[in-house]
Amino acid sequence: MSQVAGAPVRALAARVLDAVVHRGRSLKGELAHALPQLVDVRDRALTEAICFTALRQRTRYDQALAQWMPRPLGARDGELRALLWVGLAQLDELALPPHAALSATVEAARLLRRPHQAGMVNALLRRAQREGIAAADPSLAWPAWLRTQVERDWGERAGTIFEQSLRAAPLWLRVNPEHSTPAVYLQVLGEELPDVQASLSPLLANGVRIDTPVAVSALPGFDLGVVSVQDGSAQQVADALQPAIGARVLDACAAPGGKAAHLLERDPTLQLLALDMDARRLRRVQETLTRVGAHARTQVADAGAPSTWWDGQAFDAILLDAPCSATGVVRRQPDILMHRRESDIDALIATQARLLDALWPLLKPGGELLYATCSILQRENQQQIDDFLTRTDDAQAVALDERFGQVAGAGRQRLPGEDGMDGFFYARLRRSG
Ligand SMILES: C[S@@+](CC[C@H](N)C(=O)[O-])C[C@H]1O[C@@H](n2cnc3c(N)ncnc32)[C@H](O)[C@@H]1O
Repeated sequence: MSQVAGAPVRALAARVLDAVVHRGRSLKGELAHALPQLVDVRDRALTEAICFTALRQRTRYDQALAQWMPRPLGARDGELRALLWVGLAQLDELALPPHAALSATVEAARLLRRPHQAGMVNALLRRAQREGIAAADPSLAWPAWLRTQVERDWGERAGTIFEQSLRAAPLWLRVNPEHSTPAVYLQVLGEELPDVQASLSPLLANGVRIDTPVAVSALPGFDLGVVSVQDGSAQQVADALQPAIGARVLDACAAPGGKAAHLLERDPTLQLLALDMDARRLRRVQETLTRVGAHARTQVADAGAPSTWWDGQAFDAILLDAPCSATGVVRRQPDILMHRRESDIDALIATQARLLDALWPLLKPGGELLYATCSILQRENQQQIDDFLTRTDDAQAVALDERFGQVAGAGRQRLPGEDGMDGFFYARLRRSG
């Protein structure tokens, strides 16, 4: 990539970051809009890498800039501030060749119609190159109200949670057992992409971990559904639920369909009904299932109002992968820290309780419900399940083993980064019969 050719990538990354941080937009949504504007897949990968790094390290970068700039940037300088993060991310974690990174970023200031500020961008990035960027307290990336909740829930482990949440996550693949095994796939990877560092996990029946950045579309067999991208913690949901062969299963909050696809890859004879209240997201479930060659009935519905969709036939197993704060996956969705509001948590907890109560009577006696979240907040997890067990006479917890993390009330909790995986909570509940 020539230096000037690299400038549009930097300008685009700055626009994405400006929209996410200063205008409350979602990173996923902005990238989905921005990336197709780039023809070269390497440019797309670089834009993504810059945006993720900048969002994770934003507090550090702001701290350095505050020290180096005589005056703080004004409210109208959001795009410039974002461009400075773009420059710093390249010099810092991404360790791009400094000369190219600098000139492309300075040129991007011109593309953003800020030629008068190009000199300042140049001077600040050169200073960063000379002096380096000091460490910052990783907890400062969290809004104060959320930081307090994490500290209250996790005490001295909170520091590790904050630190892990700023680290780049590995890429986890799920190998479709109808096509291959993790061991065989690892061999194929070694032959086709010898530079990619990959390994198996003793905790996962179908998982492969990749520690080298690689475009998903370049993975052997991806288009054919041989592998899918899914964090190890999310893969463990199938192990925690373990429906019987051919069981009648409800996936109550199914979109975009990763866990439904996994369950069906393991047992194509499952009679699975996949619900989601978001019609647009539910279409993604169908796409996911089609890609891996799995079949399920999908329906747009509020899982909390069974009278609107249930045919009256009880389920052997229910997966409630509940809407949650997503505080366990900040390393993959760093914009969570910018967009989550304190009032969201109470609303989420009320929704989770409503879903649990509404779905429970749909289980056969002896049937099981797996409650899962990608949250690390105890009110959404162990507290939620303790309250449910207290008010539900015919519900008992079924113990999960240490593969699923540490004991957390009646369930198990993995904290972000443990076993290389996302933060996740699992509780397996049996209806007495
Ligand atoms: C954590 S995500 C599910 C991820 C999914 N299980 C997977 O593995 O791909 C939660 C989903 O719940 C859906 N949702 C939230 N409230 C719902 C409700 N009342 N009924 C059905 N779906 C709901 C959201 O639209 C969202 O897609």
